[in-house]
Amino acid sequence: MDQLRMALPKGRLLTDALNFLARAGYPFSDGVERSRRLLILDQTKRLEAVLVKPRDVPVFVEYGATDLGIVGTDVLREVERDVYEPLLLPFGYCRLSVAAPADRPDIPLRLEPSPRVATSYPNLTQRFFQQRGVSPEIILLSGSVELSPLVGLADLLVDMVETGRTLRENGLVELRTIMHSQAALIANRAAYTLKAEAIMTFINDLRQAITKRVSEKP
Ligand code: PRP
Repeated sequence: MDQLRMALPKGRLLTDALNFLARAGYPFSDGVERSRRLLILDQTKRLEAVLVKPRDVPVFVEYGATDLGIVGTDVLREVERDVYEPLLLPFGYCRLSVAAPADRPDIPLRLEPSPRVATSYPNLTQRFFQQRGVSPEIILLSGSVELSPLVGLADLLVDMVETGRTLRENGLVELRTIMHSQAALIANRAAYTLKAEAIMTFINDLRQAITKRVSEKP
């Protein structure tokens, strides 16, 4: 059977992704997260993985550099790449939210004249505000977005919230939820046909790992 290549996101999804793959029968050796190696092979030698920035996962998959990828649906909706999304995965749950300093009055967003909004999700942010008739000035950041209202860079921010700890510790509150997100398996369109047998076997293994997990829950 064809060996498959998969793009995995470095950062907060990686540990859950590796644990999930191990449960599905594709264990990688301990310590791959801490190593600087960018190309790794699972112990069954059926799955090779490349470790890339989350936003680059759909790029690797669209161009066929990897057959498969694991990425959050937040990133998928933001970057809009042409890939298949055959399976949602049971981890990486979080939400994309609008937040502001706790002492800022929560007026309807449509009454915001032209708010300055800091985010690393410019497309989803633009769409969300435009649907409410508001033209935001988007300030594009690649991290530490929560800092922006605290130093006068922006009025509002749009970022991922998982536990809510980052918001709380910076005196911020969630005003609106834009979308809920979780991890997803994505596949290259051509590979889906050309390596159909290997990909279907892989997807079935993942499905079984999901079912096993659900049935194990008390
Ligand atoms: C993400 C996100 C928030 C934080 C939310 O940042 O951008 O800052 O996690 O998680 P919480 O609700 O559990 O506090 P990440 O740590 O991935 O780094 P980043 O700032 O580079 O995006």
